[in-house]
Amino acid sequence: MAVLDIVTYPNKILKQISKPVERFDEELHKLLDDMYETMLAKNGVGLAAIQVGIPRRALIIDLGDEDGKQSKETLIEVINPEFLVWEGSQKDTEGCLSVPEYFDEVERYEKVKVKFFDRFGKEHIMDADGLLSVAFQHETDHLDGHLFIERLDYIKRKKFEKEWKKLLKKRKK
Ligand code: CO
Repeated sequence: MAVLDIVTYPNKILKQISKPVERFDEELHKLLDDMYETMLAKNGVGLAAIQVGIPRRALIIDLGDEDGKQSKETLIEVINPEFLVWEGSQKDTEGCLSVPEYFDEVERYEKVKVKFFDRFGKEHIMDADGLLSVAFQHETDHLDGHLFIERLDYIKRKKFEKEWKKLLKKRKK
């Protein structure tokens, strides 16, 4: 397994629309394994393939157990996701490994029902609410070329642009 480089904003790769996965083969398994290693190394709870430069509809989510401990037991691998139901709304603070060190509140659906495939091509249907629902929506947005900062309202977006410039300057030092 390998820790891969994460593509960060404003790299245009992140705007690509990812294509469906067609083969549930060794190559996909290696990608998913490397993505998990990368996500853990960067202390993330979710990662989409496009964030490591691969424009395929694959993503992983691992919110951990009650103590926040992440493991293969709590990992969800999601291939070719499709939302069947959206309901309600909720606001939560989100962050993204492609927009490091910036966190802000985003409005999302409260509950979702998602159909997806696992690494072996087996179909699953899952109901999600709370943080898991947010994670599904955030990660699936990546597959469609969207980042959470695009969902901020005008004032917050301005605040983001300002803070992002400061963060970039800080990183260059
Ligand atoms: Co993200």
